[in-house]
Amino acid sequence: MSLHVVNGLLVPSLVTQEHLEKLRNFQLYTDDVWIITYPKCGTTWTQQIVRLLRDKGEQDDVKISTAIPWLEGYPELDVTELPQPRAFKSHYPYHLFPCGPPHATPFKYISVMRNPKDMAVSFYYQMRNVVDPNLSWEGFWKMLIERELPYGDYFDHILSWWPHRGDKNVLVLKYEDMKNDLPQAVSRIASLMDVTVSSAVISKVADLTRFDKMKDDNTANFSWRQREGATKFLRKGIIGDWMNHLTAEQSAQMDAICTQRLKDTGLVFEYES
Ligand code: A3P
Repeated sequence: MSLHVVNGLLVPSLVTQEHLEKLRNFQLYTDDVWIITYPKCGTTWTQQIVRLLRDKGEQDDVKISTAIPWLEGYPELDVTELPQPRAFKSHYPYHLFPCGPPHATPFKYISVMRNPKDMAVSFYYQMRNVVDPNLSWEGFWKMLIERELPYGDYFDHILSWWPHRGDKNVLVLKYEDMKNDLPQAVSRIASLMDVTVSSAVISKVADLTRFDKMKDDNTANFSWRQREGATKFLRKGIIGDWMNHLTAEQSAQMDAICTQRLKDTGLVFEYES
């Protein structure tokens, strides 16, 4: 994956100025739902929840990347036939959202955030899978600190969405809260989407989207993109794997960044299960 800067944001080269312009004029529906994340914070998990809620808990054999597409990379996709409410994923910060300022749109947004230490570990394995299989942890950490990862600085992203958590068309969820109480997260997503489902369907969707179920679900585990020897996309799915990777110094460095960047925001993360 190569990267380039478009509108001030470092993005995969698949995302071009031309693509973003297409998105600005994209025919969107008022009940469209956008799943918004910095990469590795629970995008696919949330996509699977949204897709199953849309289908009232019934599973089909459509791959998640087709059921809920990534339009920044593939704006030429024909999405007119997607079931409604349609859903899309995006990794854009609030102020650069390609379809215009979210507060001026009728769409619904689910923004998922994760503690930055576990996000970093997950991103490291993804970079080894798609960029450089020999990337060292130290090399990755330097990229993270120097803001050289795709989609730029993590804190810029989350701090752009966090102030909008009270907006009526925005739901902010944390990966750790989803882990701790998945049925509650599913229920909150259903409310935002305005889908009416029974509590039995909520329980079913939560059950189908637990890590152990999802990792064996060939519509959601990206097995179709799995290269020989690469780390699985659904890798560990836990809170706290950072303890197996970050040095004491790196952990303290991230704590200091959090203290500085999250000060007075009320945004706090959980680091252990
Ligand atoms: P790990 O690498 O820590 O295991 P994204 O979809 O945004 O790229 O995020 C991928 C991360 O979410 C991976 O984290 C993946 O395992 C985790 N994940 C995906 N589905 C999950 C689930 N059902 N429960 C918990 N974690 C999940």
